[in-house]
Amino acid sequence: MFGQTLRLFLVLFVACACALGGLGAVADEQVTQRPTGLLGGRKRLKGHTGHSSFRDSAITQDTMVERYRNLYAKYGQDLMKVKLRAGPCAAKGLSSDMELELAYLRIRDTRPSMVWEWSPNHGLSTIFILAALADNGHGQLIAFDVNENWHDSEACMGDQIEGRFRFVLGDVHNTFYELESEVGMPDYLFLDSWHSHIMGMWYVSEVFPKISKHTYVSLHDVHNPKFWGDSFDDKAFRDGRDLRLRPSWMATEEGMTVSDWLLYRSSVCGVYTAAKSRWPAVYDAMNNMRTIYMIEDVRVEGLHPEVQENSTLFFELLCDMDASA
Ligand SMILES: C[S@@+](CC[C@H](N)C(=O)[O-])C[C@H]1O[C@@H](n2cnc3c(N)ncnc32)[C@H](O)[C@@H]1O
Repeated sequence: MFGQTLRLFLVLFVACACALGGLGAVADEQVTQRPTGLLGGRKRLKGHTGHSSFRDSAITQDTMVERYRNLYAKYGQDLMKVKLRAGPCAAKGLSSDMELELAYLRIRDTRPSMVWEWSPNHGLSTIFILAALADNGHGQLIAFDVNENWHDSEACMGDQIEGRFRFVLGDVHNTFYELESEVGMPDYLFLDSWHSHIMGMWYVSEVFPKISKHTYVSLHDVHNPKFWGDSFDDKAFRDGRDLRLRPSWMATEEGMTVSDWLLYRSSVCGVYTAAKSRWPAVYDAMNNMRTIYMIEDVRVEGLHPEVQENSTLFFELLCDMDASA
C-alpha cells in the first residue's frame, strides 16, 4: 500500500515537473542572457538596457559580498581616484566611507541615465554620484536642496560638472512637480533629505507612484542607530535614540515608513543594506572583502562618521519593467 502511494506520488511529481519545465521553457523565451558583468550568466528581461540588478527576491550575504567584490575588482582603481579627490571637500559631509563607495559602485554598475539626489547639502555624496556618471561617460545628475552648500564641493568635482550637473534650489515638495513635468522621472533616486515620517509618507504616496520604469533607489539613514525624531527641534532628535524603546537595529521614522510601503509592493527587488546596526555580519564581511582592494586606506571622513555606519537601504522599484521605457 505504502509502495503504491509512493509510486503514485512519484508519477505525479514527475508530471508536475514536466509541466513546470514546459512553462519554464515558455518563460525562457522572454529572457536573454546577460552577456557580461556582475550578473554574468543570469537571465534578464528582454529589451532591458543592460543595467545590472539584484533581481533575487532574497539577497544573501554571500551574494551581496560576491557581487560587490566583482565591482571593487572592476572599478576599484577609479574609485580610489575619486576618494583621493573628494578628501579635501569631505569635512562637512554626512555620509560614511563605505556607503560612498557603494553609491559610486552601484551607479557604475547600473549606468543610470538620470539620477536625482535629495539632497546634497555640502555635496560629499554628490561628488561620488557625479564621478560615477562621468566615469560611465553617461548620465545626468539633478540635485535638489533648500540651501546651496553644494558649492563647498565644487572644487572637488572639477570639470565633471560640465554638462552633467544641475542644481535645483527650493523645497523638494514643490520643485519635484516642476522637474517631473520638465524632464520626467529619473531612473535612479538617491534619497538623503529630511528623515521624517511625514516626508516618507509624501514621497511614497506622491512620488513613487509616478515611477513607470525600473528604478534604483537608495535611502540614507534608515539604519542609523543614533538617529531619531522628525525635527531638529525635537528633544528626541537632540538626545538621540532611546535604546530601551527603539533598539539599534530598528529603522528610523522615514526608514520604517518606506520599508512598510515596500512590504506591500509586488514589483520590488534588490532590497539590501550593509548597515552595521541592521546586518553586522554583512557589514563585517563587506569590510573584510574591501581590505583586499586597500580601498579603506584612503578614508573619506565627513562629520560624525561613527554615527552613520553605512545606514543606507538599497532597493529597486518596478523590477519587471524595462529601464529604458
Ligand atoms: C543629511 S543632509 C544630506 C547630506 C549629504 N547627502 C552628504 O553626503 O553629506 C540633508 C539635506 O536635505 C536638505 N533638505 C531637507 N529637507 C528638504 C526639502 N524639503 N527640500 C529640499 N532639501 C531638503 C537639507 O537642507 C540638507 O542639506
